[in-house]
Amino acid sequence: MDRLTGKHALITGGTSGIGLETARQFLAEGATVAITGRSQEKLDEAARQLEGPLLTIASDAGDVPGQAALAARLRQEWPKLDILMSNAADITHLPVEAWTEEAFDRLLATNLKSPFFLIKDLLPLFSQQSSVILVGSVSAYIGHENATVYGAAKAGLLSYTRGLTYELKDRGIRVNGLSPGPTITNAFAPLGPERRAALYEELRQTVPLHRLGTATELAKAAVYLASDESAYTAGTVLRVDGGIGQLAY
Ligand SMILES: NC(=O)c1ccc[n+]([C@@H]2O[C@H](COP(=O)([O-])OP(=O)(O)OC[C@H]3O[C@@H](n4cnc5c(N)ncnc54)[C@H](OP(=O)(O)O)[C@@H]3O)[C@@H](O)[C@H]2O)c1
Repeated sequence: MDRLTGKHALITGGTSGIGLETARQFLAEGATVAITGRSQEKLDEAARQLEGPLLTIASDAGDVPGQAALAARLRQEWPKLDILMSNAADITHLPVEAWTEEAFDRLLATNLKSPFFLIKDLLPLFSQQSSVILVGSVSAYIGHENATVYGAAKAGLLSYTRGLTYELKDRGIRVNGLSPGPTITNAFAPLGPERRAALYEELRQTVPLHRLGTATELAKAAVYLASDESAYTAGTVLRVDGGIGQLAY
């Protein structure tokens, strides 16, 4: 339970689902953790569910210039940063005809542009033994309903793992992707219970391991990528997706 002792970790989108569970696991492993979300109310609710040294910062991942403010706040609070998990995402799924340029730009700003500028703005704070985890999606690899724009942004995000690892390797910063398959989280809550249950069943049938994943399973993988146990893992993507991204069903 001390795989992250002494480390400082920032998780964007830490009020729910995979981000919240990862915050719980990081704290349990001894890390000092900061989480972001769009509202202080949800951040306070998350803080009530977590135990340990925690900082909550209201910050919208869709606000590209706001990433500099987030980095500046962390620089005020902490002497260094060892772990960044870029997890917040715009998960808008729409048919081609329904996309507006504004919605397209917002998704790209949140899922592709902001993570890049956040990493750039955090460079002075990263320690010489840092791990950046970019949360992708199986949609980066396979086509499915209404996921063209989301999948393209996630594919771009995951490509940073290669480019940035190369560029940052001499600063001791490893960059890896963590790619979930269908995972039970609040991401599906807006559908309502009936449509959500139907979608879960539909998704379950497409996953080679015959089930959806849990936030805990993703969080455990994040602990591995965050810790020095993965010190020789760089520029790659860990798929925790029940096989859906690689195997025929
Ligand atoms: N669940 C799945 O099946 C699945 C599959 C593939 C990939 N993923 C990826 O996994 C990651 C986590 O998703 P999840 O399933 O855990 O979703 P979730 O339970 O809905 O949690 C999303 C988190 O992101 C935050 N967030 C969303 N937009 C934000 C923004 N603009 N600025 C700051 N925070 C923002 C939310 O916080 P607030 O609402 O408080 O702002 C929340 O903490 C995402 O990158 C998603 O694309 C999920």
